[in-house]
Amino acid sequence: MITDVELRNNYWHLLGHRTELPEAGAFLKLNWLSDEVVVFNDHGEMLVFDNLCPHRGTRFFNEPYGKGVVSCPYHGWSFQSGKLHIPCRDKFKPEEINEARLNTLKVDWCGDFLFASIQPASGLEDQLGESYALLASISFNINGRADFNSYIYDCNWKIAIENGLDSLHTPYVHAESLGRLSLSEPVNTYHRANSVANFKITDASVEKKLRLISRMFNISDQHEGYQSIYLFPFTMLTSTFGYSYSLQNFFPSQESNKTFFYSRLLKGCLNKNYPASTMDHFFASTAQVNRQVFEEDHAICKKIAPQFYDVKSTQFLSVDEEKIIHFRKILQTLGA
Ligand code: FES
Ligand SMILES: [Fe+2]
Repeated sequence: MITDVELRNNYWHLLGHRTELPEAGAFLKLNWLSDEVVVFNDHGEMLVFDNLCPHRGTRFFNEPYGKGVVSCPYHGWSFQSGKLHIPCRDKFKPEEINEARLNTLKVDWCGDFLFASIQPASGLEDQLGESYALLASISFNINGRADFNSYIYDCNWKIAIENGLDSLHTPYVHAESLGRLSLSEPVNTYHRANSVANFKITDASVEKKLRLISRMFNISDQHEGYQSIYLFPFTMLTSTFGYSYSLQNFFPSQESNKTFFYSRLLKGCLNKNYPASTMDHFFASTAQVNRQVFEEDHAICKKIAPQFYDVKSTQFLSVDEEKIIHFRKILQTLGA
């Protein structure tokens, strides 16, 4: 039986985009199970480590994102440019203190997307399959973050992920938000445990408005419609026309009916002929709609009775829920 700890430890997880942390000291902090993980720009090198001072376990960072230094408030241990600095080093046993280091995770890149893993069972490319090339291409069309949003979903992470894989609920749950795009049936493709759903936007006037702003962007090979990419096990990446990407992590917590939810709005690269702020309003309103969609999703997810969930069941699953069948099959293969 595969546990949430194994799914976390043995897979690669998409934790961010290079342009989200452009300057030295920029960081992100994410919770998963009982741990906190930090993504940190250490003078150009991207590090991922446990938010835990190796001396006596004090947290380095308390905010979810920002700019700072890796410096422990308790006894002054700090980390910079690849080195741990320990005040009064001569007071410690040399053979012990020389072994002290940050507890770092393995990192790898898919284009400009940063992945990290604690103890990967396979290489990143192997895990992503054909999604690797798609993600790399997307990553080169992104420049910066417009929004960071996090809270706790009151449901198990599998229920939250299945909700993300389900397009059947859109007209009911998102009538006033995502539903306005009038999405077509999805075209689903599967890459190992991952899946990609491409939708057309069938509301002609919405579609036309979206096409009109394409000149503001300098992006290539992006899906001209709505796209939802699922990266097994905990991550979704969704976009409309590639103008922005919503990166969502649904990390398990120690409590089975709570999920650490993080969403970020990543901005599409802009056409250099327009001032950088031209699309600020567009990104702000996209972020607002996305936040509304997540709140609607959260509200419905917490209404699902946890005891009803059965990873082995495919009963009453429609064609619009076939990605859920794929997800459950993968979990079953892994012995969940
Ligand atoms: S716990 Fe961090 S320096 Fe002591
Ligand atoms: Fe939804």
